[in-house]
Amino acid sequence: MNKDYFNGKVVWITGASSGIGEALAFTLATFGARLILSARSIDKLEAVRRNLPCDKENVKILPLDLSSTLELPSRTKEALAAFGRVDIMIHNGGVSQRSRAIDTKMEITETIMSTNFFGAVAITKELLPSMVRQGSGHFVVISSVMGKFGAQYRSSYAASKHALHGYFDSIRMEHVGDNIRVTMVVPGYIRTNVSANAFEADGSKHGRLDAGQARGMSPEICAKKIVKAVAARKPEVLVGGFEVMGVLAKRWCPALLNWILPRTHVDG
Ligand SMILES: NC(=O)c1ccc[n+]([C@@H]2O[C@H](COP(=O)([O-])OP(=O)(O)OC[C@H]3O[C@@H](n4cnc5c(N)ncnc54)[C@H](OP(=O)(O)O)[C@@H]3O)[C@@H](O)[C@H]2O)c1
Repeated sequence: MNKDYFNGKVVWITGASSGIGEALAFTLATFGARLILSARSIDKLEAVRRNLPCDKENVKILPLDLSSTLELPSRTKEALAAFGRVDIMIHNGGVSQRSRAIDTKMEITETIMSTNFFGAVAITKELLPSMVRQGSGHFVVISSVMGKFGAQYRSSYAASKHALHGYFDSIRMEHVGDNIRVTMVVPGYIRTNVSANAFEADGSKHGRLDAGQARGMSPEICAKKIVKAVAARKPEVLVGGFEVMGVLAKRWCPALLNWILPRTHVDG
């Protein structure tokens, strides 16, 4: 892997307080990146920063709430001021869902869309002009297999992740000539708190580790696969176990997926 791709680069990671984002911070710190770490929880971000194997001068904490999209332009200006530039933006912060569409409150759907989609858009719109000026940039977008097909109990989450693909595939096309890259990351089951933090229909937390996540890939291995794909400037990468085959089934044999999924247990 080309670890030099990250050396000295400024990498801003949202959702850096736990799970995949925390593991990405650790891996990128060992590769010499300068880091900006964002999430809502300052305490958790500080704990992540303390444990990183690098000079702490090279790590800035920038708390933010992705669902407060109106505040994100000014947070992005702060991120740009931290080291004078952002080279790689990792849109990783997000929240999942464990409820049927028929039961899910509209405001929960709106919060999921803001957190997972509009938050990333607000940051991207503010960052793009600086990347165009500096003549380079790389967006790394943590989607999901739910960004490629829908499943029961995931309607709003799947919608938010599908939206990321449409938006960032378009950004890739619009900025080919500006040396701005996009890597879409499509994880299957990764062993994090994502199911515990997921919304139920009324907005309460699901609160438990689902079977899928429990048997999932470790966030550390996931992070290594992500940085390898980013360094190789891949446009898209699938990361996970057998469940990522669903993406191939949707593409090449959708009738099979439409038959199998309703007969498959999905944690709800
Ligand atoms: N684990 C999986 O199986 C899996 C599979 C496919 C895709 N993904 C995606 O991977 C990404 C990372 O999730 P994870 O698995 O690492 O789960 P996680 O441990 O729950 O991490 C989610 C991260 O997002 C942050 N976050 C949540 N809501 C936020 C908000 N409103 N504003 C700012 N930050 C917010 C959380 O920090 P705070 O709570 O401190 O704000 C946390 O750092 C997500 O986009 C998720 O959809 C995960």
